[in-house]
Amino acid sequence: MAIVTKTNRRPAAQLRLPVIPENGEAPASTKEAGFSDPNFAGNKTLPIHRWVPWIAGFSSDFVKSALNGYLKKKGTVLDPFCGVGTTLVEAILGGHNAIGFEINPYAVLASRAKANAHRIDIDEFISKIDDFRQFYKKKTSLNYTPQSTPPKGFKTRASFYSSQVLHKVLIVQDFVLAIEDNNLRDLFRLAFASTMVSYSNYSYEPSLGRRVSAGREEIHDFPVAKAITDKLTDMAEDIAWMQERMERNNLDVQIINDSFFHCQKHLSGASVDLVITSPPYLNNYHYNRNTRPQLYWLGYAQSPDDLKKLEDLNFGKFWQTVRDLKRLDLSFALPHTDIGERLQMLRKLNKEKGPYGGNGWANYAAAYFNDCHRFAEGIRYVLKRRGTALVVIGNSILQGVMIPTDEYFAKIAESVGLELVKIDIPRATRVGNSIIQSDVRVGKAKSSHQLYEAVVVLRKP
Ligand SMILES: C[S@@+](CC[C@H](N)C(=O)[O-])C[C@H]1O[C@@H](n2cnc3c(N)ncnc32)[C@H](O)[C@@H]1O
Repeated sequence: MAIVTKTNRRPAAQLRLPVIPENGEAPASTKEAGFSDPNFAGNKTLPIHRWVPWIAGFSSDFVKSALNGYLKKKGTVLDPFCGVGTTLVEAILGGHNAIGFEINPYAVLASRAKANAHRIDIDEFISKIDDFRQFYKKKTSLNYTPQSTPPKGFKTRASFYSSQVLHKVLIVQDFVLAIEDNNLRDLFRLAFASTMVSYSNYSYEPSLGRRVSAGREEIHDFPVAKAITDKLTDMAEDIAWMQERMERNNLDVQIINDSFFHCQKHLSGASVDLVITSPPYLNNYHYNRNTRPQLYWLGYAQSPDDLKKLEDLNFGKFWQTVRDLKRLDLSFALPHTDIGERLQMLRKLNKEKGPYGGNGWANYAAAYFNDCHRFAEGIRYVLKRRGTALVVIGNSILQGVMIPTDEYFAKIAESVGLELVKIDIPRATRVGNSIIQSDVRVGKAKSSHQLYEAVVVLRKP
């Protein structure tokens, strides 16, 4: 198979470098745009980044501009919530050491496969793709009974795969499980996992649901091998692309499948030059539930208990897990802010709705800010003196009450001894917040309330 190194790749955007102003919070009216849009959408066509779509992943251009602006020489870059590895890939391409924390093992697989891309023997990979084509062709033409079986604990309301598609998927599993080389097997597992929903009777809208509920037809048959080989071919092209750009190096790359809240167990203090990250937002998006198919089919989950463990580790908890509590409060004091009053205002709304009213959402917001506090302490621990942290975070509207998450997070960070350099707003509006679109959960979102995303720039003195 010929590998075409694409020449029509999007050139690295001409990015405006962020300017570090005098210390002190920029007043809301002067929040300025200095970074490129942190939204993931642009990554969908970019080499390496395009392998796995991830909700609220951020753009590689944003990371590039951050690296150029804040790391004048080679250093160590950390993403405490690394998702599918956008920060890590850009850091590696820039010749920096890279560390990522992530609780979701499917995202860890994606980050690891991308981070190892420059070490893959491309000829072996291409020959394995050819072996796969032949194996699949042979087995689908014979009356072959696959040895693999669907994951036992994976229960769905309707059949996840039609019987024809399932047969093909099991043939794929037979091939993948027999690959001996770990790095190559990772690539095949990822190619399967990142395409597996597209030939199932489920789809992302953006949460995972039945196709029929979204007005789509069920899938009775599908060219499964084609979907996977197309993905593998893209991966092979991208690996060649990456290898052309990378010098031989002995970069230190660590992807830690654990909560960032356990960072002291894994990292020495004052060991990181730059943090670039985006924690989960205060929008109750359920990364773990939405990746159930991948977690079960990849063997990372065998029962709901395994998902529960991830849920417990998740930054900010989930509304469903705290809404019934009588009252969950902030675990820290934040003088000179209205955070307490705002949560109190929220708490009093829609009392007649019980846990679905303001109190449940105030509990959720308090749990979220308690984790923001732990996160800020983690940043202070890992950063070297004068190191910088760039935190992309979105605001929220809960029951019609606007929660300026960026401003509260900045104040929390200051309260643990970090300096606020500035808050930047690259994009004034954000769409698609499940909370404000849901009739059950929403109060009336006031039209003056906009969703935005901010980059909170912090420095360790
Ligand atoms: C907004 S996404 C980050 C996406 C990432 N910037 C990218 O481009 O792929 C937040 C990630 O944080 C992860 N996460 C949630 N709680 C965590 C925790 N306590 N420690 C580490 N990662 C966590 C989620 O699984 C999710 O992948």
